[in-house]
Amino acid sequence: MKALITGVTGFVGQHLASYLKIRGYQVWGTTRNNSGEVNNIDGVNQVHVDFDNITSIVDMLNFIQPDHIYHLAGQSSVLESWSDKVGTFNSNISLTMNLLEAIVQCEIKEKVSVLTVGSSEEYGGFDTGNNPVSENTPLKPISPYGISKATVSMLVRHYHTVYNLKIIHTRPFNHIGPGQRLGFVVSDFSNQIAQIEKGKKRKVISVGNLSAQRDFTDVRDIVKAYYFLLNEKVDSAWGESVNVCSGKATSIQSILETLLSLADCSIEVTIDSNKMRPVDIPVFMGDNTKLIDLTGWKPIISLEQTLSDVLKFYRDKS
Ligand code: GDD
Repeated sequence: MKALITGVTGFVGQHLASYLKIRGYQVWGTTRNNSGEVNNIDGVNQVHVDFDNITSIVDMLNFIQPDHIYHLAGQSSVLESWSDKVGTFNSNISLTMNLLEAIVQCEIKEKVSVLTVGSSEEYGGFDTGNNPVSENTPLKPISPYGISKATVSMLVRHYHTVYNLKIIHTRPFNHIGPGQRLGFVVSDFSNQIAQIEKGKKRKVISVGNLSAQRDFTDVRDIVKAYYFLLNEKVDSAWGESVNVCSGKATSIQSILETLLSLADCSIEVTIDSNKMRPVDIPVFMGDNTKLIDLTGWKPIISLEQTLSDVLKFYRDKS
């Protein structure tokens, strides 16, 4: 069986590729380089394709003939979407449309199954009474990122209804783990602690909004959910959206306290107003009943384990 991952060199793409290799898949991945070359790196065939050009994507799909496509490529930062709205819409909407158009035009349209990645940010809204958020909660995205991903969920319904594509849209809540780049809360905190421990920074950690609560899941559990969705019999759910989350909310304050308790020295905390967002949803907690009913998936890795692994990742880098 062949799996194609768009954005294979990203944080989630790398974890998904490792998991699919363990499950015996021949893994192909696309990267942002547009040279048209194919390189095998760590057992993954990396294809460099121009996602602005539908014909190039069709050629790639006809060449690889994947059974499954995991569409992970895109702009993944909520924070960055505020300062680059056009870039976010282009990466998350236009490139997804190009991929879906290419699938409709290629030889494998009938056999391929496709998974797209959205976000809990699609729900938006400020009504904490909505928590836990199920797939039936109305979409009221606020961030440009959330709007872009909500649009993808509608494209998924369109391409399933109109072209009969076997396609499913996921709405992961916050996913964290080793390898996540800076710009996300756990990485930002862990990196600063690691720098302080190595004596490369003053013993002060700079943070943003600590009152927000988020539903965190380890990326290694998230990629298993993606795998299950394309490998279990989810025929009843094609064209629909599925939450991927733990079902528990944790405050950013509590994340900070756990990470500080793992530090080898005492660290002062300072709030940096530059890290505050124009708008930040106060509480996000997901309902994962639909995913569990469809696939039997359950998250396994504890939050404490994930935080410890991310801190180790940044200690090894520092
Ligand atoms: N990044 C960051 N850095 N966030 C901070 C910091 C900091 O130093 N201090 C506090 N926060 C707060 C943010 O204001 C937000 O409320 C929360 O921590 C989580 O921020 P992020 O880790 O940046 O994640 P996100 O919720 O904006 O987006 C992530 O989750 C989405 C699903 O809910 C990303 O992984 C998205 O790709 C994903 O779709």
